[in-house]
Amino acid sequence: MKRMTVPQIQARKGKEPIVMLTAYTARMAQLLDRHCDMLLVGDSLGQVIYGLPSTLPVTLDMMCAHGAAVVRGSYHSVVIVDMPFGTYEASPEQAFRSAARVMAETGAAGVKLEGGEAMAPTVAFLQERGIPVVGHIGLTPQAVNALGGYGARGRSNAEHSKIIADARAMADAGAFSIVVEGVVEPLAVAVTAEVSCPVIGIGASARCDGQVLVIDDMLGMFERTARFVKRYDDLASRIDAAAGAYAEEVRARAFPGIDQTYQPKG
Ligand code: KIV
Ligand code: NA
Repeated sequence: MKRMTVPQIQARKGKEPIVMLTAYTARMAQLLDRHCDMLLVGDSLGQVIYGLPSTLPVTLDMMCAHGAAVVRGSYHSVVIVDMPFGTYEASPEQAFRSAARVMAETGAAGVKLEGGEAMAPTVAFLQERGIPVVGHIGLTPQAVNALGGYGARGRSNAEHSKIIADARAMADAGAFSIVVEGVVEPLAVAVTAEVSCPVIGIGASARCDGQVLVIDDMLGMFERTARFVKRYDDLASRIDAAAGAYAEEVRARAFPGIDQTYQPKG
């Protein structure tokens, strides 16, 4: 299987749904790769991997290290790396410097950045210089302080119109895909109909052109997650059981057993 390309993802609009998950490590990327069209090295790694309170403290160094690991672990999916807070908003030039570093150090196919109309000139600047960009609109976690929380967006007419305008601006600027997060379902459907690039939903609608979830959320690694997360496993309780069994055997001197020890020959 050859690695998929950005134009192949664009061509999926209105056709086969795009399957996307986040990945932060090489081994997880390897396991997800054959099931996915795209892997996202999300700045959600701030909370998921580093135990940070939000995505705001995530650095370009973190994104580059994990992005490179995910590219090394995969050979089929289009890998997209999130631009962290503070590394792209000041100017298109700042964004280009940061994104070029991500592209050079990771081998990813493109970057994702949060924001709508205000970031459109930046999206155009990157896209025109050879960096494919995924936009991210609706509930944008880097704006948590301005939004006042992680609640669903688009409930008022004003917010609905603003998010449609954000989608249009991102698409017109040349974003090759747009993630729409945490919006009321009719708005997600409207955004999907509004733009000619694939719209990938999270907390959005099955009628989007694709879906993305945070891998640790869908595997059941956390007690509390957003309403829009579906748990496909309960890994936290399985890890708890495995660690508990190990601890018990160590304390009882039942591990290591004969199969896990080296004995002298003869
Ligand atoms: O950081 C992330 O994981 C994301 C997805 C939830 C879209 O941006
Ligand atoms: Na993100």
